[in-house]
Amino acid sequence: MPANAAVPRAKVAVLISGTGSNMAALLYASRRAGCPYEIVLVGSNDPEAKGLKLAAAEGVATYALPHKGMKRAEHDAAMEKAVLAAGADYIALAGYMRILSPAFVSRWEGRMLNIHPSLLPKYKGLDTHLRAIEAGDSHGGCSVHLVTAELDDGPVLGQTPVAILPDDTPDTLAGRVLHAEHQLYSRVLEELVTRPYRADWLLEKVAALALSLPEAEARDSHGAPGWRTGGKSGKFFAYFSERHHGEPHVAILVKTDGPDELAALIDRDPAIWYRPAYYGASGWAGLILNRPGVDWEHVRQWLERSWRAVAPKRLTRLIDAADEF
Ligand code: GRF
Repeated sequence: MPANAAVPRAKVAVLISGTGSNMAALLYASRRAGCPYEIVLVGSNDPEAKGLKLAAAEGVATYALPHKGMKRAEHDAAMEKAVLAAGADYIALAGYMRILSPAFVSRWEGRMLNIHPSLLPKYKGLDTHLRAIEAGDSHGGCSVHLVTAELDDGPVLGQTPVAILPDDTPDTLAGRVLHAEHQLYSRVLEELVTRPYRADWLLEKVAALALSLPEAEARDSHGAPGWRTGGKSGKFFAYFSERHHGEPHVAILVKTDGPDELAALIDRDPAIWYRPAYYGASGWAGLILNRPGVDWEHVRQWLERSWRAVAPKRLTRLIDAADEF
């Protein structure tokens, strides 16, 4: 990505089985200038789903495949094929009344979300409003969560409580919860797709990787987060750089063999590497994190390499031994 380029719009496929009012809410929210996502496909397991007509009228590609007579994994695979062909990097389930096969779910881990009409973890599954009313709850509500193999069980990303009125029926409550759903879903989706570009989120991810190295400890350096090996003579093996010195990058600085290797890295992959101000002179390389498609295993390997370069022998020996297995 060129310096200072805007965050690219994430491509989202929405899967529905019915009315698709949540899909419509996501779609119209995406029409706002500057919305960080766009809907590239609306898919359904029911060719008659009302939402498909709306999507088509709004110029969004649609795909429908009835599941009847198909094995679950086969149907999922066909849906996934359509989603990938549309170029989607996220899937939003919006009233998609299908349990998804574990392999499908795991391929989209962290990139597939669902909206559920209850305050999870309460009332997974169906009849949520009736169950909330019968339990005498003061509030029902809705939750948006990441999809995991267990039904309605993944990490909750956002919730809105909705007061239950004394004369509420499941239908009247459902109607008000739906208003809340329509507001909540696009907000949470925006938050999810912009995370990979946000410094606070990137710092959290990098810190977890850095601190998983033996005896690593966090220590600020010139006001920026850094990580060093433990002990009195601990040396820094990584620094977090958030748009320092006017640079557009959020990055992790890691140790290369020296300026020659740094130059070669930048030459080969200028979208990934840059020469950080001051640190570059001594062979520190900037590994850019606020860009699409960061390979976190690659980041982890560089952190480990950087750590090895400064860690005392007594610690690197342990890792060398582990590598032999
Ligand atoms: C919503 O209540 C949603 O929470 C649930 O299914 C319903 C779908 O409604 N998962 P719609 O098709 O979006 O109007």
